[in-house]
Amino acid sequence: MTDSSAWRPIVLTLFPEMFPGPLGVSLAGRALGNGLWSLEIRDIRASATDRHRSVDDTPAGGGPGMVLRADILASAIDSACALDAAPRPRLLMSPRGWPLTQARVVELAHGPAPLIVCGRFEGVDQRVIDKRALEEVSIGDYVLSGGEIAAMALLDACVRLLPGVMGKEVSASEESFAGNLLEYPHYTRPQRFEGEGVPAILISGDHAKVAAWRQAKAEELTRQRRPDLWAARNQKAPKDNAKGWQTLSFVL
Ligand code: ADE
Repeated sequence: MTDSSAWRPIVLTLFPEMFPGPLGVSLAGRALGNGLWSLEIRDIRASATDRHRSVDDTPAGGGPGMVLRADILASAIDSACALDAAPRPRLLMSPRGWPLTQARVVELAHGPAPLIVCGRFEGVDQRVIDKRALEEVSIGDYVLSGGEIAAMALLDACVRLLPGVMGKEVSASEESFAGNLLEYPHYTRPQRFEGEGVPAILISGDHAKVAAWRQAKAEELTRQRRPDLWAARNQKAPKDNAKGWQTLSFVL
């Protein structure tokens, strides 16, 4: 099934050969093959103007590394968006960005597909970030060698929420703002594994007890591993942050 209105993100990268990568297999890959979404990959280097096709230069003020030039990236963004009938979110993957949340993923999956710039080098000239209103997004407090893998992570998280990609079960638990809990532990056969049984309650057939056990385990894990989520869960719904993103409540 191919639908011209399918969700179609644009990725700007210096390494187009990295895509679709993992997005081409499993759930996202099947959905890509079925036309439930599509992917436009653009090479930033195609916007270079000199004969060496250079896209970066030394940082003003000195220091290590190279900086992606504002003029080259602006021109890549402008030509990528030239045919858009409506504006789309413009993201820049960067370790100094706003932390990506499930709430933001849900918004992106439900709205116009984003344009995603994959940063490389020391950084991107601040003027293009400002002039093209790029929303900097981080996928975690660690530094990758570029934004490509971060973009894939973000796209994977969005694609599984697109209509028809997964069953109905995902929407209720992830899109409501009711949880903010890590998931409880899962078990299956065999009943004994290396001397360890499945918790008796899970095979008791008492659905209410199973639900209560899972809730208690989810709370325990969240308290231990994510005191930030636990604190947020126990507060009243906070006001939107500066970006207008709601930060809360999903099942991880
Ligand atoms: N580029 C390099 N590291 C990154 C991170 N943690 N998140 C998003 N983009 C990145």
